[in-house]
Amino acid sequence: MQGRVTGLPKRSSNNQKTRMDKFRITGRQPLSGEIPVSGSKNSSLPAIAACLLTEEPVILHRVPQVRDIATMLKLLEYNGASVTRRLDGAVRIEAARITKPEAPYDIVKTMRASSLVLGPLAARTGVARVSVPGGCSIGARPINLHINGLEHLGATVHQEHGYIEASAPNGLRGNTVHFERITVTGTEDLMMAAALAKGTTVLENAAREPEVVDLAELLIKMGAHISGAGSSRIQIEGVERLHGAEHTIIPDRIEAGTLLIAGVMTNSDIVVTGCVPEHFASLLSKMRQAGARVEESATAVETRPVTRLRSVDMTTEEHPGFATDLQAQFMALMTGAAGISFITENIFENRFMHVPELARMGANIRIEGRQAIVAGPSELTGAQVMCSDLRASASLVLGALVARGESILDRVYHMDRGYEKIEEKLAQAGARIERIG
Ligand code: EPZ
Repeated sequence: MQGRVTGLPKRSSNNQKTRMDKFRITGRQPLSGEIPVSGSKNSSLPAIAACLLTEEPVILHRVPQVRDIATMLKLLEYNGASVTRRLDGAVRIEAARITKPEAPYDIVKTMRASSLVLGPLAARTGVARVSVPGGCSIGARPINLHINGLEHLGATVHQEHGYIEASAPNGLRGNTVHFERITVTGTEDLMMAAALAKGTTVLENAAREPEVVDLAELLIKMGAHISGAGSSRIQIEGVERLHGAEHTIIPDRIEAGTLLIAGVMTNSDIVVTGCVPEHFASLLSKMRQAGARVEESATAVETRPVTRLRSVDMTTEEHPGFATDLQAQFMALMTGAAGISFITENIFENRFMHVPELARMGANIRIEGRQAIVAGPSELTGAQVMCSDLRASASLVLGALVARGESILDRVYHMDRGYEKIEEKLAQAGARIERIG
C-alpha cells in the first residue's frame, strides 16, 4: 500500500510556502497527560542517505513526517531511487539504480543536510556532484571536513560553479581520517563512504551522538563491519556490497527535550513517552540542578510542578555534553528562573536569533559574544514574534506557552522542518495553540 511519500500538506502549485504559516498561542494553560515523541529527524536523514549504498530495498520505521525528511526523500527520488511511504508510516527506499549521482542546488538550498549523499554517492557510483550547501541562519556551516575525509579515502574533490565534485573511479580506499573538529554529519558521511571502501578506515575524533550510533546500527544490519560507534574512534572494515535491511529510527531526543521543557515551564505534570532519556541526560541533569522535578523510566520522562526554578549556567558541547539543538529551548526555560544564567554557545557562531524575539515577550537577556546572560524571573507577555530557524522557533513556542495573553508566531514553516505535528501534540495536552493563515 502506498500513501503520499511526504505525508505533508500539499504545497501550492508554484511551490510557494503554504499559507497557514502562523501559530496563535494563548499562554498560561497547564498541560497534562502523555505526549508521544516521534522518530529522530537527525537520525532519519543519514539513514535515508544510507539507502543509496545498496541496490536492495531498505525499510525505515518511525521516520517523522517533517519538511526536511520530505526534502531528503525527494532528493533520493531525484537520484533514481524508488521511495514510498507505506500506510503504516514506514518508508521503503530502493536504489536499484542510481541515474543521477547529484544533489542539485534547488534541493540543497532548502536543506543543507542533503550533503549527506556525498559519501554514499561517491562510494556507490564512484562519482558525486553536490551543490555546496550555503550557510544558514545559525552559521557558515562549511563542509571542509567532509571533503578532507573523502580525499583521505582516495577521492579527488574539486569545487566549481557552486558544486563539489567528488570522483573515485577505482573505488574508495580505507584510511585513517582525523577530524580536526568534531562533526556529526561529517562522521556520518565518512562512515557511509568507508562502508564500501577497500580496506579499513578509522575515524578519529568522531562524533558520539546517538544519531551516529543509530546510523552504524543500520549499516551493520545492511552488512557493514563497524565497531566503536558512540566513541570518538570508529573503525570500519569496507565490504564489497551492502544488502537491504529493516530498521526503526531512534526517538527524537531534541523533540523529547523540547516537550519536557514545555512541561516544566508551564508547571505541569506531563509524561513524555516513547523516548530514550539517556540520549538527553545532560538536559535532565541541568533541569534537576535548576530545581525541576523530572522522573525518568527507560522510555519516558515525567515532569512535576515546582514552585520556583533557580538559574543555572549552561555551555553547549558535542555529545554527551549539552546539545546545541536544545540551547534555545533551555534559554526559554531560564527566563522564568530566579537569578542569572550564563548560556554559552560553543558549536555555532550565530545561534542566538531567538534572543530578540524572546525579549519582545519580556525576557531579560544580554548577548556578549558567544554568551547570553539571562536574568530572571521575567513575567513573559504574549507578543507577535518571528521564527528564524528550527530550534529558535521552538523556544518561541515555549515562551508563548507561559506568556500572559496571546502570541502570534510568524514563519512557523521553520518548525515544520523538524517537529512532527507539534501543535497537535501540544493542543492534545491542553495548550491553546492553533495554526492560522
Ligand atoms: C548536525 O549538524 C545536526 N544536523 C544539527 O542539527 C546539530 O546542531 C549539529 O549536528 C551539532 O550537533 C543533522 O544532524 C542533520 P556539525 P552538522 O558538522 O553535522 C563546524 C537541527 O537543528 N564544521 O557537527 O552540520 C560547523 O560549522 C540541526 O536539527 C566545520 O567547520 O553540524 C559547526 O560549527 C541544526 N566543517 C561545528 O563544526 C565541517 O566540514 C559542528 O558542526 C563540518 C562542520
